[in-house]
Amino acid sequence: MYLGLDFGTSSVKGVIIDDKQKLIATASSPLKISRPHPGWSEQNPEDWWKAANLVVKALRKQKPKAVAAVKGIGMSGQQHGATLLDKNGKVLRPCILWNDARSFEECNDILRDGPHAKSITGNTPLAGFTAPKLLWVRKHEPKIFEQVAKVLLPKDYIRFRMTGTYGSDMSDSAGTYWLDVAKRDWSDEMLKATHMRRGQMPELFEGTDATGRITDKLAKAWGMPLKPVVAGGGGDNASAAVGIGAVNDGDAILSLGTSGVMFVSNAKFSPNTERNIHAFCHAVPGTWHQMGVMLSATDSLEWLVKLLGTPAPKLTAALGKKLNGPSPVLLLPYFSGERTPVGDAQIRAAFLGLSHGTDANALTHAALDGVAFAFRDSLEALRKGGASVKRLTAVGGGTKSEIWLKIIATVLGIPIDLPAAGEVGGAFGGARMGLMAATGRSFKEVCTKPKIARTVQPEKSAAAAYDAAYARYVKIYPAIKDIK
Ligand code: XUL
Repeated sequence: MYLGLDFGTSSVKGVIIDDKQKLIATASSPLKISRPHPGWSEQNPEDWWKAANLVVKALRKQKPKAVAAVKGIGMSGQQHGATLLDKNGKVLRPCILWNDARSFEECNDILRDGPHAKSITGNTPLAGFTAPKLLWVRKHEPKIFEQVAKVLLPKDYIRFRMTGTYGSDMSDSAGTYWLDVAKRDWSDEMLKATHMRRGQMPELFEGTDATGRITDKLAKAWGMPLKPVVAGGGGDNASAAVGIGAVNDGDAILSLGTSGVMFVSNAKFSPNTERNIHAFCHAVPGTWHQMGVMLSATDSLEWLVKLLGTPAPKLTAALGKKLNGPSPVLLLPYFSGERTPVGDAQIRAAFLGLSHGTDANALTHAALDGVAFAFRDSLEALRKGGASVKRLTAVGGGTKSEIWLKIIATVLGIPIDLPAAGEVGGAFGGARMGLMAATGRSFKEVCTKPKIARTVQPEKSAAAAYDAAYARYVKIYPAIKDIK
């Protein structure tokens, strides 16, 4: 048996699979975000640990024998978060998350002090990445900065709690801005440019490597007498790709979660920094990936959910099933700033075209359209850099909305495949990595593709109207970017 744990932003999910990768049990536990200042986004690492324990407890309640037979654990994690530890492994401050916008000025400092930054990391520095967050702490919380003995990504903090070791994998580490992404090693030049040292970084592994075993104490507490090995694991998008078998050159996925991601697997390192496409290592050896990232995908709809006090399924159901065309209202969904394509942490969202007749349906429709347009920006940026994306497999909580998928397929002009029921997300990818770390089986053999349940085709009759709306959408950012 193998356990996958996915440390998302809104919850921790756990799955258990057997040797044949059959799903045995699933559980989850919610997480909250704290936003102490505009643009800030933090979580308490202790909350991840508590949630992980609740998930294991729930799995144990369902299938005690399966939990007792766990031989390997793999984790998937929200990327980029800066978890700062002192020399005794004590957490120094709340983790600054991937969608925290505070460190935008520090990105310029990195480019000034790290002249080869873009070619080494394959990315333009963005406030979401880990390195600028550390420069911010150095500037604003110098006493904390002085005490930093280790910087860990969220899932790697849990590894530390599980095994007592400091380790990370290549896919997640690529999102720190300290990794030489082509070489799959820490970059001394990038560390120096941000006043950091190699000793403050965890040891690097491939996602499928074994990084250590859980401690005796935890083996007892979790009822896992085989003391499972913990795999390197991966960033959440790379892990979802492992879960869905997107590990071959050109395999593409669309993740409609808190963030929105268009992900393409690459046989070689393929930087494309012009429009803020990320180029990272994949979680499997000798493989890389590119992705366009929007910061607020289901989070844009969540904003409306909070405002209107109506749950998301009710809001989207009110739009009906037939897609006739775009909303008369446009939304630029930049509630936390945006990465792809604009790389602007200070911009905020804007509705355009509100009238006396605008109702909740028009706003909901605008939110779904706005996210679809942001995906189209990623698609155009990926294509401009030479990637060919002909179909996408969709994962993530937002895929429960049929109308949203229809809008996205129409705006992108490409079909979207939906995997058959079952677990295909980051937690399942994590469990697969746990299996590979424990058995040594290869990713080519393990990472098969799920059965496709159905395909959502573009709505041809609405395509021209959506093209016209997208042409209006792309004019919004240049027109408002200086109004901050
Ligand atoms: C990827 C990214 C997000 C987070 C949270 O670069 O920031 O996808 O990993 O899901």
